[in-house]
Amino acid sequence: MGHGNVNGGNPLKGEKGRGKVSSQLPDLFEPMQLRDLQIRNRAWLPPMDTYSCVNQDGIPTNFHYQHYVSRALGGFGVVIAEATAVNPQGRISPCDLGIWNDRQASAWQGIVTDIKAAGAQPFIQLNHSGRKGSSGCTPTGHINATVPASEGGWQPLAPSPIAYGDMDTPAELSRMEVSTIVADFRSAAMRAVKAGFEGIEIHAAHGYLLSEFLDPLTNHRKDEYGGRLSGRMRALIEVTDAVREVIPAGMPLLVRISATDWADGGWGLEETVKTAKVLNEHGVDLIDVSTGGIVPGVTIPAGPNYQVPFSFQVRSKALIPTTAVGLITKAKQADKIIRKGQADAVEIGRAGLRDPYWPLRAAHKLGMDKADIPYPDPYRRGAYGTNR
Ligand SMILES: Cc1cc2nc3c(=O)[nH]c(=O)nc-3n(C[C@H](O)[C@H](O)[C@H](O)COP(=O)(O)O)c2cc1C
Repeated sequence: MGHGNVNGGNPLKGEKGRGKVSSQLPDLFEPMQLRDLQIRNRAWLPPMDTYSCVNQDGIPTNFHYQHYVSRALGGFGVVIAEATAVNPQGRISPCDLGIWNDRQASAWQGIVTDIKAAGAQPFIQLNHSGRKGSSGCTPTGHINATVPASEGGWQPLAPSPIAYGDMDTPAELSRMEVSTIVADFRSAAMRAVKAGFEGIEIHAAHGYLLSEFLDPLTNHRKDEYGGRLSGRMRALIEVTDAVREVIPAGMPLLVRISATDWADGGWGLEETVKTAKVLNEHGVDLIDVSTGGIVPGVTIPAGPNYQVPFSFQVRSKALIPTTAVGLITKAKQADKIIRKGQADAVEIGRAGLRDPYWPLRAAHKLGMDKADIPYPDPYRRGAYGTNR
């Protein structure tokens, strides 16, 4: 292994011997450690863009405060803030969060403080949207299309000038522009640390810029950022090094990857595993394993646990901790994924949107002792099973 370590669950041990802290707790609620960070459980909130910066300034609002702090009060171990752009063109839509200036970063401080006060660990997903940038959001209209520059949109940028579906054709990034974006990730990570985040996730999934570099279907470059896997991986590795260099040595660094684009002749598991190994050598501690989003028009066999086998493969072949995500909605289902060594943590996405208290409910369903369930103190009198 490189630098990535999970004390609470050695991925090499797989099933059972997970270095459990206490045998009384369900596996889902076993604490874990990533580098110096203690995490109270393995039920995490994945990054989910809320497209809610209605002022189009990338600054988190009271909505973001409520949204994230309530999930922390609801018992999640880690709350990963949604895709947050490292520069203005890196936003998916004009309503995305950004962290390219100090005003944006300092607006996170109160949110981050209260996430921690509620016992969860705040992480942030840093993103550049690439060819999927300048998409519409509610105030701008043009949903699932490109917002024109005259209406607050911008020219999308990408490794190669290949459009995503009906969106505008992106401009091909020069090598100098790639270097600038790498530097923007570095500055964004520095700001995130200053704002109080306890972990960073680099978004290299779902067809945004860094995954466009990885995938041969979206990267036709002839320079050192294209061609073979080592070239297509270069932008992500440069970003990883830049971020790792400026964050504290004890802070976990995650990368989210689409393990397949579900397309013929495209990106798949084998390349994902190879990339995960290299990332681990460059100081990445955990791979957040997702799939898809890179090319349109593919069939995704979505169903309960549909991405779990990818997490298991990355975990067991690249020997790096992983999270699994995708239609994990039930307590026993989530607990079993951890128990079987298919992932070190699970992420509860849409189910966590409809129920901010998903982990509290899950802990009860798994029969946890009331005293061990991470209720906020003022809520203890309303614990499940309490009739008075
Ligand atoms: C509204 C919404 C916004 C999302 N935004 C992001 C995002 O910002 N970054 C990301 O990596 N994935 C994003 N995703 C994907 C989720 O993180 C998650 O992988 C996906 O919803 C599957 O998990 P689920 O079945 O538990 O919802 C988003 C999903 C939804 C539903």
